[in-house]
Amino acid sequence: MSKTLKVGVIGVGGIAHTHFPGWQESPHTEIVALSDVSAEALKSAGEKTGATKLFEKGEDLIACNEIDVVDICTPNMYHTPLTVAALEAGKHVICEKPLAPQPDDIRKMIAARDKSGKMLMTAQHFRFEGSSKALKAEVDKGVLGNVYHARCWMLRRSGAPTRPGFIQKKHSGGGPCIDIGVHILDLTLWMMGQPKPVTVTGVTQDKLRRLPGAFSNWGGPIPADWDVEEFASAFVRFENGATLVLEVSWLLNHPKTHGEDMQMWLYGDKGGAHWPQNVILTTDNATCQHFDTQLQNAESGEPHAKECMAFAEAIIKGEPSPVPAEQSLDVIAILDALYKSAQAGREVCLK
Ligand SMILES: NC(=O)c1ccc[n+]([C@@H]2O[C@H](COP(=O)([O-])OP(=O)(O)OC[C@H]3O[C@@H](n4cnc5c(N)ncnc54)[C@H](O)[C@@H]3O)[C@@H](O)[C@H]2O)c1
Repeated sequence: MSKTLKVGVIGVGGIAHTHFPGWQESPHTEIVALSDVSAEALKSAGEKTGATKLFEKGEDLIACNEIDVVDICTPNMYHTPLTVAALEAGKHVICEKPLAPQPDDIRKMIAARDKSGKMLMTAQHFRFEGSSKALKAEVDKGVLGNVYHARCWMLRRSGAPTRPGFIQKKHSGGGPCIDIGVHILDLTLWMMGQPKPVTVTGVTQDKLRRLPGAFSNWGGPIPADWDVEEFASAFVRFENGATLVLEVSWLLNHPKTHGEDMQMWLYGDKGGAHWPQNVILTTDNATCQHFDTQLQNAESGEPHAKECMAFAEAIIKGEPSPVPAEQSLDVIAILDALYKSAQAGREVCLK
């Protein structure tokens, strides 16, 4: 039986393949079209999904009347023009993170969304992990009280994606800040209840990639055309008085040779919490006792697939976007201010 929403995916390289199962599993969606500038990627994704409308140009997919939803999985710098064009053509859009590397580009996407009346969602799959949902439910119940500080990091040892779409600014818009910083920062702001950032002090570093023989476990020798940061740290103040410390890196002499170290600590006046271990830390002053309570994950399931299914469900039910663009704008405004602060050598105000 034909499903209600017809999906077209633009950019069918790596991450698009994690979206396909979500579109296939959802009772509301089916993949009918694909686009990629690489004929090889297009052919392989066509065989995998069974989609028959294959376009080398994203614009041609967007012009296809049959399509209701456009899923954008290209390198970062192409997100804005494709999203704006798709919204103007009357499609709902889910776009990979970062929504765009520049705040002004996200503002253009929001304006196009508002004009079209269609849905726009950022694919922040970590929000759809069972561990994230379980902790968010506790935080929203008030278990931590007022969260006044957070520490978060996403650190890799020799873990740089060495493809041009990540290490060349003209394609990516930035380095680990823009690639993985958006993941942990989005998750942390979401947990904190989206406080409004007011100032950022940031530093970027570029050390290990310049050493002789520098390599990445995710792509071999470090290419000479790398022009983005390899490490960044930041201190953020929020309008409500809360603060946040962020650290991100693709190349760092830090434990976890394989994979990455991704953590978040939340500190509130009723309790603290650690993710992804999902432990809640509380203190009973009456008995001078400390309690470390392990949360159980209520949900299982692959988070990329779940984010696509949540998007389709929200369209069908007429609910708000599961990850609104305004929240991604705050994430990118912080990272943009981090870069500006690093360059100026001082704190930067966001207002
Ligand atoms: N959510 C996550 O965990 C996660 C992980 C990896 C990547 N991403 C994001 O997904 C996006 C793509 O990353 P990737 O790892 O899949 O990269 P990739 O290089 O593996 O794939 C990108 C594909 O886009 C194609 N492409 C480039 N420009 C295009 C254009 N103008 N029109 C159509 N196709 C085009 C390329 O040929 C390639 O096949 C990036 O924005 C990245 O930040 C998200």
